Amino acid sequence: MTTQEFLGKENFNIQSTAVSESCPSNIALIKYWGKYKDQIPANPSISYTLNHCKTNTTIEFFANESFSVQTFLSGNEEVNFAEKIEKYFKNIEQYLPWILKGKYIIKTENTFPHSSGIASSASGFGAIAKCLMKLDETFSGKNSEEESLQKASFLARLGSGSACRSLYNGLVVWGESDEVNGSSDLFAVKYADDEIHPIFKDFNDWVLLIHEGVKSVSSTVGHGLMNTNPYAERRFQEARENFVPMKGILKSGDLTGFIKLVEHEALTLHAMMMMSDPAFILMKTGTLEVINKIWDFRRETELPLFFTLDAGANVHLLFPNDGSEEQIKSFIESELLQHTQKNGVVKDVMKF
Ligand code: PMV
Repeated sequence: MTTQEFLGKENFNIQSTAVSESCPSNIALIKYWGKYKDQIPANPSISYTLNHCKTNTTIEFFANESFSVQTFLSGNEEVNFAEKIEKYFKNIEQYLPWILKGKYIIKTENTFPHSSGIASSASGFGAIAKCLMKLDETFSGKNSEEESLQKASFLARLGSGSACRSLYNGLVVWGESDEVNGSSDLFAVKYADDEIHPIFKDFNDWVLLIHEGVKSVSSTVGHGLMNTNPYAERRFQEARENFVPMKGILKSGDLTGFIKLVEHEALTLHAMMMMSDPAFILMKTGTLEVINKIWDFRRETELPLFFTLDAGANVHLLFPNDGSEEQIKSFIESELLQHTQKNGVVKDVMKF
């Protein structure tokens, strides 16, 4: 598919209306870090879509008023976010030709702490893209559910790359990979359910809030630094190659292989940051303490508790619901929570 196939319909009929949508966040297992023009990823990625960490968004559209955007996050006006959305709407006009023909009031709230480092841009742009597709159907006519979801994923990507994966539940792939049928750089696709062993279909993601402040480097700047990182090409190639073992692991239920690959991906993401020029480190002391404790715990108990990291200091604790979860949960409560700022943990679970 090409971008041409997402161009908007010439005939539309706008009216004032309001729509609401909800979209979860996601956590990447094979990471996207580095991109080309128009939000084309430098390598394919695969993520789990979360269940509880969501953004709920309402868009009020006032037809035929001059174009402007006002945004509210949990009732508070956010001027910077409104500027970002204005720019985004201008950027996607060819795909939604009615988009600049009215005024918007966008109200949004997250079901998780804003400063938690859980990707609110993924759930946020996912929810906005879903709202926009609802408006598009009202103004330009219905699409099939599949078309609508695919275009929402395409539009979400143009807001924040990783957001395109949040449109589908379960395991989701974005970026062309020879290993995944139908995968594309333009939108995300659901990883086939029958290619996933049951152990990976009921998984916990507990996010330890090690540091609740604003990140020192935004992901936009981080992606940009991959352009001059001497290790970037090797990294992009490695991520592509990692789809080969990942596919086998997911099919066979090889938890040991999964743990090794997922932790390696997380550490590689942060290694890339440290090898950028200028270098930056998003992990904090607590991040490293938790990682070391997880490794000790695994050595001593052989229980499947492991981690991944996003572009931040917080640690995503991953573990299956395979009968070992109660022992793992009590270890987290007694040994790991102390490394968070305010006993902060967001408990999510991926069930599909
Ligand atoms: O979607 P962005 O531009 O915020 O980039 C997110 C990148 C990571 O979260 C670090 C990795 C990923 O694949 O989600």
